[in-house]
Amino acid sequence: MTIIIDGKEISKKILAEIKAETKLLYNRYEVKPGLAVIIVGNNPASKIYVKRKRQTCQSLDFYSEDYDLDESITEKELLNLISDLNNEPSIHGILVQLPLPKHLNEKKILNFINYQKDVDGFHPINQASLLTNESLILPCTPLGILELLKIYNIEIEGKHSVIIGRSNIVGKPLSLMLLRENATVTICHSKTFNLEHYTKQADILISAVGKPQFIKENMVKENSVVIDVGINRLEDGKLVGDVDFENVKNKVYAITPVPGGVGPMTIAMLMKNTLLACKKLSL
Ligand code: GUN
Repeated sequence: MTIIIDGKEISKKILAEIKAETKLLYNRYEVKPGLAVIIVGNNPASKIYVKRKRQTCQSLDFYSEDYDLDESITEKELLNLISDLNNEPSIHGILVQLPLPKHLNEKKILNFINYQKDVDGFHPINQASLLTNESLILPCTPLGILELLKIYNIEIEGKHSVIIGRSNIVGKPLSLMLLRENATVTICHSKTFNLEHYTKQADILISAVGKPQFIKENMVKENSVVIDVGINRLEDGKLVGDVDFENVKNKVYAITPVPGGVGPMTIAMLMKNTLLACKKLSL
């Protein structure tokens, strides 16, 4: 029987642990993890993600500040807000939901966040810390994937991990994190020739492509582990991953569903990063 990796259930357990630790922290030091969540404009998918992050903050009794900014905000105004939050002691995490409208320089804005409050792990100092094995704040989706592999006792050492996608948010950091766990890592992307050649060799296949049901049964190795990072909406409104789940699941050892796989783990890791940032900055 194939293992369906239950990210929803695992994330609930992790959030319960975070909530318990948050309570202890408050009782002992009167400190609450504080997260500022900034969204600019009206991207419907971003609005859903931000809503979920804010709800999760509330359910954990975190302190949170919500900034819903108009599409027309200037770069200077946004930088001023981030500067205030950088200096605000009750805020330990600052999250700017991506993508930003085109007139705002994403790189400049992310780099302006105090790296110790960059709970997304996107700041160059945090990204670079993976190369030097210092591992300051690590990005949430790769962290969530590693957590799932560990909890399901899926061995990484010596295994061939094939990642499709080379983004700064998922593919690149995940490749370094798997390498650190002694995997053999291959990174494929949109320009890779003969993608199937690589995916068929994967003991652990991770897809972060953004194409609905793109990974078919004939592209995966028997008894492998398939991690689906894609969140794609079909025309009928249904959410699906990058993997043709119904057909692929019969061939593999374990697989993450969409929804209910990687997605909830990303949010749980965001909360964990915020708690860790709070402890580092406040205690
Ligand atoms: N947009 C898509 N994924 C993410 C994420 O993990 N964090 C932020 N801030 N924006 C995103």
